[in-house]
Amino acid sequence: MTEKRGSSGRGQRDLKVRVKSAKGRRLSSTLWLERQLNDPYVKRAKAEGYRGRAAFKILELDDRFRFLVPGARVVDLGCAPGGWCQVAVARVNALGEKKGKAVGRVLGVDLQEVEPVPGAEIHQLDFLDDGADDKVKDWLGGKADVVMSDMAAASSGHKQTDHLRIVALCEAAAELAFDVLEVGGTFVAKVLAGGAEGALQTILKQRFDKVANVKPPASRSDSSEKFVVATGFRG
Ligand SMILES: C[S@@+](CC[C@H](N)C(=O)[O-])C[C@H]1O[C@@H](n2cnc3c(N)ncnc32)[C@H](O)[C@@H]1O
Repeated sequence: MTEKRGSSGRGQRDLKVRVKSAKGRRLSSTLWLERQLNDPYVKRAKAEGYRGRAAFKILELDDRFRFLVPGARVVDLGCAPGGWCQVAVARVNALGEKKGKAVGRVLGVDLQEVEPVPGAEIHQLDFLDDGADDKVKDWLGGKADVVMSDMAAASSGHKQTDHLRIVALCEAAAELAFDVLEVGGTFVAKVLAGGAEGALQTILKQRFDKVANVKPPASRSDSSEKFVVATGFRG
């Protein structure tokens, strides 16, 4: 990985790859493949050793809001395949590679099994299970400076259902954040624009000094995904 702070916004100009339709492959799969092959973030993720293009979303959010500082204790909800964990490990100095800087900690959870990320502690867990937040609190064993969630339920194909599911995931993540965040801490979560996120915004505004809604450049423009970044937890 060749991560540098502030290095997340480089542009890249390349010739477009065209994918021919093939017998047995649906048009949607051909278009998906073509988009992947032409996506500069997919290429950069491969070149820079990240497990997915999602890594650039947290890099861009952190370049702007600066919450992944050396020494920070981070909880990453919905962390598979591990791109956000990779970024967090490097930026909070979880491996102690930045000599003379504080050493941070990264705890990730996901429904799916995750290939180990050096420097991160990862557990397989459905965060919506009863008692899941208590398990995370036990593993954490104290306070966190950052709670971040990129959780997304598998698409049902029904936009409104998907929206309500992601709001539920986001609210569960916020509940954990209210319990474990250190005063001054940061909460970052993926939401889908679509109307039902208003209640969450109201609660966050009561508990944090600032609440921003951001669509980082790495988030595809044709997706309704955006990120809420709440900073300055009031306790
Ligand atoms: C977009 S991916 C996360 C990508 C990750 N940030 C990265 O950089 O590699 C969303 C993840 O949320 C996880 N997820 C969805 N619902 C979950 C739940 N109830 N509990 C835990 N993880 C969940 C999914 O398994 C999926 O791996």
